Amino acid sequence: MDLNPKQQEVREWLARRQAILLAHNYQPGEIQDIADLTGDSLGLSIEAAQTTAAVIVFCGVRFMAETAAILCPDKLVLLPRLDVGCYMADTITAAALRTRKAELPGVPVVTYVNSYAEVKAESDICCTSANAVRVVNSLPEPRVLMVPDRNLALYTARHTSKEVLYWQGCCNIHDNFTRAEAEACKAAHPEAIFMAHPECRPEVLNLAEVIRSTSGMLVYARQSTQSEFIVGTEMGLIHALQKENPDKRFYCPSSCLLCPDMKRISLDDVISALRELQHVIQIPEATRLKALTAVNRMLAVPRD
Ligand code: 13P
Ligand code: SF4
Repeated sequence: MDLNPKQQEVREWLARRQAILLAHNYQPGEIQDIADLTGDSLGLSIEAAQTTAAVIVFCGVRFMAETAAILCPDKLVLLPRLDVGCYMADTITAAALRTRKAELPGVPVVTYVNSYAEVKAESDICCTSANAVRVVNSLPEPRVLMVPDRNLALYTARHTSKEVLYWQGCCNIHDNFTRAEAEACKAAHPEAIFMAHPECRPEVLNLAEVIRSTSGMLVYARQSTQSEFIVGTEMGLIHALQKENPDKRFYCPSSCLLCPDMKRISLDDVISALRELQHVIQIPEATRLKALTAVNRMLAVPRD
């Protein structure tokens, strides 16, 4: 693939710094195209932990770079901009979670990886959009508290016999995607398979043929013999889907499926990050160790 001059400059800086570039599946196409690895939020951090590179440039949002820093304390994790937040991660604080835990003694806290390190540190175990049901079923207790995503918790509750208490958080991008929009897109493309992210509302998920994380959707589309798909998640994923499957067609069902935080990092920001070695993501060690315990408990849950 031909690189434009700025993309070439990023690759040159990566070589000079012995760094690797990780990009989430929602990142702008010109960043995904020059990444060493693309993937979902947790997959990228697991890959980061296995790399021999000394420097990791994380193109995603801050909670994702934090997860990489939790798992890779010996590496320099750089986030090209500090203003890449996440609506969902901001719906909960460690202090608010401590208050709720005090009201629910003996109820384990299952925290979605889309959260900040201090919140993970208050949790018993983490989960992702790909393994939430498995993680909840792995716990001995009959009741769990899932935070911060209400929709992921409601989805999990439908696939487990446990009682799932939840936090009133959500991703505004997925939560604003309506059932009417999903129905209209299905009517316009009656042959298409509707894939949806579990962060969508229950009434939207009810219409989906496939409910997966971003990487799960990539695997499904790659393996499917179908040729048309409605993509019920942030529209950046369509770049990777289309690139991997040039003969298949992918439709975005709603203009609201655009996460501004995921689009903020530019090639210039990546060049500055590598030139200045900024912005280093550091987690206080006590917080990191507690958050690592919750992440590692999740990683120890056997796969189906
Ligand atoms: P995935 O972990 O499925 O990539 O999702 C991340 C995310 O931010 C969803 O909105
Ligand atoms: Fe956060 Fe939603 Fe953006 Fe994902 S899409 S980073 S959950 S605001």
